[in-house]
Amino acid sequence: MNEYWDTRFNAEDKIWGESPSHTAEYALHLFNQNKVKKLLVPGSGYGRNTILFSASGIKVAGVEISEKACKIARSFDPATRIFNDTVLDMSFLAHNYDAIYCFNVLHLFREYDRQLFIDQCIRRIKKQGLMFFTVFSEKEESFGKGKQVEKNTFESKPGRHVHYFDEDDLKAHFKKMEVLETGIMEDPEDHGSGPHTHLLHYIYVRKTR
Ligand SMILES: C[S@@+](CC[C@H](N)C(=O)[O-])C[C@H]1O[C@@H](n2cnc3c(N)ncnc32)[C@H](O)[C@@H]1O
Repeated sequence: MNEYWDTRFNAEDKIWGESPSHTAEYALHLFNQNKVKKLLVPGSGYGRNTILFSASGIKVAGVEISEKACKIARSFDPATRIFNDTVLDMSFLAHNYDAIYCFNVLHLFREYDRQLFIDQCIRRIKKQGLMFFTVFSEKEESFGKGKQVEKNTFESKPGRHVHYFDEDDLKAHFKKMEVLETGIMEDPEDHGSGPHTHLLHYIYVRKTR
């Protein structure tokens, strides 16, 4: 997985441009309502979303596996502290984050690692802490393309797995949390083959224990 992303960031640099996803703007609105001061962004890429949160005064930490993406992020969003490591073991982090924002990372893992990743995130936030995740939905144009490696999980590009979620599946992944909101958001991007719009599921959850 690291090789796939490092190769892409080396070749395409700021792949998705410098503007944050609409989902990050929406998450910021929710986090402000809840006075979030300390935020973790797993799979933070080169920082196009972290910079939205750090510029608003939130203390942000990112965890990112690609060395190249970390290098870009440290210059693009110097206010965010970046850890070049895996989100599957974030034991080097504190347990006191108010919230987590995670854009399009969870769907990259197979079933066992998806649950491992979510458990890692739950451990990093305080009681009553919040998490906002986005993932590819089953309504994506690429759904069903490539070799199926697990139920609803396809090798959509060589070296990259994608799990396509429907709403029930997404809620089931977060069954240890209180679900506050779910929905679908359109997320326009312009890279690779040109302008296209992703149909992302999002889930907003709270830690109750
Ligand atoms: C689809 S990109 C999204 C990047 C970022 N969230 C954004 O919106 O710009 C997925 C990101 O997850 C990172 N990633 C993949 N597997 C990871 C892992 N095991 N640990 C940390 N980061 C990982 C990739 O390097 C890449 O930056």
